[in-house]
Amino acid sequence: MLAKVYACAMVGIDTQLVEVEVDVQMQGLPGWSMVGLLETAVKEARDRVSSAIRNSGYKLLNRRTIVNLSPGHVKKSGVHFDLAIAIGMLTAWDVCTPPKGRRLLLAGELSLTGQLLPIPGALLMSICARDHQLDGIILPQENVEEAQLVSDVRVYGISTLADAVALINHADPKPSPRPTRRPASKTSPLDFAEVRGQATIKRGLEIAAAGNHHVLMVGPPGSGKTMLAERLPSILPPLTPDEKLETMKMLSLHGLLRKGDAITDNRPFRAPHHSASYVGLIGGGNQTPRLGEISLAHNGVLFLDELGEFHRHVLEELRQPLESGMIRIVRSGLSLTYPARFMLVSAMNPCPCGYLGHPRRPCVCSVSQIHSYRRRISGPILDRIDLHLEVEPVSHHALMSDAKQESSSAIRDRIMIARERQRKRLGNSPSCNAHICSRDLKRFCTLTPSTSALLEQATEKLLLSARAVHRVLKVARTIADLEGSEAISAPHLAEALHFRPSEINGHPIEG
Ligand SMILES: Nc1ncnc2c1ncn2[C@@H]1O[C@H](COP(=O)(O)OP(=O)(O)OP(=O)(O)O)[C@@H](O)[C@H]1O
Ligand SMILES: [Mg+2]
Repeated sequence: MLAKVYACAMVGIDTQLVEVEVDVQMQGLPGWSMVGLLETAVKEARDRVSSAIRNSGYKLLNRRTIVNLSPGHVKKSGVHFDLAIAIGMLTAWDVCTPPKGRRLLLAGELSLTGQLLPIPGALLMSICARDHQLDGIILPQENVEEAQLVSDVRVYGISTLADAVALINHADPKPSPRPTRRPASKTSPLDFAEVRGQATIKRGLEIAAAGNHHVLMVGPPGSGKTMLAERLPSILPPLTPDEKLETMKMLSLHGLLRKGDAITDNRPFRAPHHSASYVGLIGGGNQTPRLGEISLAHNGVLFLDELGEFHRHVLEELRQPLESGMIRIVRSGLSLTYPARFMLVSAMNPCPCGYLGHPRRPCVCSVSQIHSYRRRISGPILDRIDLHLEVEPVSHHALMSDAKQESSSAIRDRIMIARERQRKRLGNSPSCNAHICSRDLKRFCTLTPSTSALLEQATEKLLLSARAVHRVLKVARTIADLEGSEAISAPHLAEALHFRPSEINGHPIEG
C-alpha cells in the first residue's frame, strides 16, 4: 500500500516542494522508519502522528511503515510536516480517498489529540503551492489569512486531523472565505509634535527617513534620543507592494503573521534589547535556522538603543548586512541567505557617566574610561553610519514652552515627495538614495566643479574614507531631493558633511 502527498520545506526564504511517500508493507517486522535528511523536529513527528491518528478515532494495524520525504538532499526542519505524514498514512490505509489527480499541499503541526496547531511560514508555503500549480493548500485555521495573501491559491483552513480527512475525501470542497476588507494600516500613536525643541535632530531624522540612511544619536541621559527614535515609524513612507510581500515573508517565517493585524503597510520597527545574542540579532542557530532581528527589520528600522552596551562581537556582524542588505548564514552542509536591508537607528551616551559635553553637568569619567567606552563600537561600524547626530539636552524654556511643534504627518508628507523623486530617478530597485551602488553614484549624484572642490577639502580635513565620501554624496542627494532640487548644490553638500563629524566632543569616533 503506497501513498504520495505534498508538503513544503523551507530553504532560507525560498521553498522546496516535498513529496511525502508512505509505504505500508504487510510483511516484515512492524514499526516505522522515516528517511529524507530529517532534523529532530521532523523525526519526532512519528510519535505525534501515531497518537494523533489513534486519538482521532482511526484504527490502523501495526505494520512495517516507511515514510520518505524527497528530495533526499534537501534538509527538512520544522513541525509542519506532521499533517502530510498523517494524511500519507491514512491514504495508504485507504481512510483518505482523494479524487484522482488532485494535488494538495499539506502543512500543520499535530497535537496528540489530533488538533492542528499553527505553523510558521504559511505565506511561503502558499507561494510554493501557487508556483507548482497545486490545487490548493490545507493548513491550520489560524494561518489562513496569511496564506490568502497570495492570490490564485485555494486555501483550506481546518482545525483537526478529522477535518482534513473529510475535506480531502470531499469531491468539491469549498475554500475558506477570503476577508472582504483588509485591516487598514495603523498610524503610530506617537507623534514628533510631542518632542519639544531638538530641531537639528528632527531634521537629521527626516533626512535619514527620506533616503533610508543609517543614524547614530549621541547625547546625555534624558535628552530625548529614545523618544525621537520611537517616533520614527510615524514619518516613514508605507511599504510598496513588493516590499510588503518581502516583509510579510520574513514575519511569516518567524510565525508573526498569524494574527491578521500584523498584515499592514507599516514598515517594521524592531528594537532588540542590548543583551541580544548573536542568533537573536543576526540569525542562524543550531537546529532549525531562525531569522535574526536584522531580517525582521527588513524594509524597516532596526533601533539599537544604548549601542555601547551591545556585545561588541555581535555588533561587528552588522558590517556585512549594513553594506549588502543581506546576511549569509553558513553552517555545516547549509548556506542560507536572508534579506536584511534595514535602516539602522542607534543611540548612545557620549561616555559611561553620560555627561561628556553637557553644557551644565560635569563629566566624571577619565580619558581612558571614555576611550574604552568608545572602543566598544569599532571604526568600521561607525564608518557605515551616515548621520551622526549630537543630541543636546533640551532647555527648560523649550521643554515648557507652548510653541506648536511640527506634526509627524507634515514631516511625512515631505518625505513621501522626496521618496517619489527618488523612485522616479532610480526605478524600483533600488528605490532610495542609500541603496545607490557605487557604480551608479556618478550618474545620480553629479557635482559641479565648485561643490566637487568643497568635497575634496572636506575629505582632507575630516579624513573621510572612500566609503564615507560615497555616503556623504548619497545623503547630499537626499537633502537635494527634500528640497525638490535635481542638482546637488554647495548647501546640500555642506549639510551632509555637517552630519558626519570625525570626532564627538573632542574624542575621535573611531575610538
Ligand atoms: N525634547 C523633549 N521634549 C519633550 N520631552 C522630552 C524631551 N526630551 C526628553 N523628554 C522627556 O524625557 C523622557 C526621557 O527621554 P528619553 O528616554 O528619550 O531620553 P534618552 O536620551 O533616551 O536618555 P538615555 O540616554 O538615558 O537613554 C521622555 O520620555 C520625555 O518624557
Ligand atoms: Mg534612551
